[in-house]
Amino acid sequence: MDTKIRKLSYDGIDRKVIEEAGQILKSGGLVAFPTETVYGLGGDALNPASSGKIYAAKGRPSDNPLIVHIAERSALTQIAANISGKAERLMDAFWPGPLTLIFEKKPLVPDKTTGGLPTVAVRMPSDPIAEALIRAGGGFVAAPSANVSGRPSTTTAAHVAEDLNGRIEMILDGGQAVIGLESTIVDVSAEPPVILRPGAVTKSMLEREIGAVETDKAIIASDSGVRPKAPGMKYRHYAPKAGLTIVEGETERVVSAIRHLTEEAERAGKKVGIIAADETAFRYPAGLVQSLGARSREAEISAHLFEVLRRFDDTEVDCIYSEAFEDAGLGTAIMNRLLKAAGHQVLRV
Ligand code: TXA
Ligand code: MG
Repeated sequence: MDTKIRKLSYDGIDRKVIEEAGQILKSGGLVAFPTETVYGLGGDALNPASSGKIYAAKGRPSDNPLIVHIAERSALTQIAANISGKAERLMDAFWPGPLTLIFEKKPLVPDKTTGGLPTVAVRMPSDPIAEALIRAGGGFVAAPSANVSGRPSTTTAAHVAEDLNGRIEMILDGGQAVIGLESTIVDVSAEPPVILRPGAVTKSMLEREIGAVETDKAIIASDSGVRPKAPGMKYRHYAPKAGLTIVEGETERVVSAIRHLTEEAERAGKKVGIIAADETAFRYPAGLVQSLGARSREAEISAHLFEVLRRFDDTEVDCIYSEAFEDAGLGTAIMNRLLKAAGHQVLRV
């Protein structure tokens, strides 16, 4: 299949391109598109054949449910039942935006889209291209992250093409995704609500709106023995080809441990990659050093994490050491993705 790539500008989104992309969705095809979190791989959420194509294009196990993206609140009642007052408050505060909510599903949503679950994940993205595409495609767009299963999520159209060229009808190019990490997922069919995946809408932001929320134990646990409630969270994810180890501790000790480990590995003839921040990147004389951005501007770190993990796959490094990041606020989401990429391999120094 020939994948069309269409560049769009946010000042004046080309209606003709959106109409063309919407027609592809309506006729059962797949279109990758930008959102404020990561790129999504879109298909008609109400068409089971489209969901089947999404699983096939990603190489994703079909028990792993898809998020249904909508463009207006009124669409929600067609697909979700028993919407709680807390859910309403969260939508008032964070929709459109990087928050996905889990509801009891209505029969309109095919089982194929929810991986056979009685619940449905719903998100209303704030990205204007995403919004226009959802409207043009019929109002309900199933979209997982637009990457081959197991690889880091995509934050540019070029990354999408790397993984999915030839497997989907179209890619809408809206430049770099601003947040760079997938949405926060909260199960509001449970009481109290439970965070199934941390993201840019943090625990304290949620609690300010609705009081206590819990966090799925599988996110906190350092081993993968606890089964996560979001089926997709159980898979090894984001993993670069070279083994990744996170080095955690007081900054000076981390820098000297990574320097030492790098020297040792290079003496053994290995090539080493290092993931650091602007504040420390210049302190590594050896190894291939990649900075995620400034620790003082956490949003830079989240925006660049997946890109840096991907870029290490283009190099010949044998192992990667990463500095740890603070596990609070947006940092909780950053560390969640980094720990998964490392298969929970952490060295405390
Ligand atoms: O930011 C995002 O959420 C992006 C953009 C494209 O919107 N999408 C995304 O989708 O990250 P995906 O499919 O890569 O991740 C969705 C996660 C998976 O871990 C899946 O198991 C979980 O959501 N999920 C979906 N439906 C669920 C449900 N009914 N119950 C529990 N978890 C669910
Ligand atoms: Mg994904």
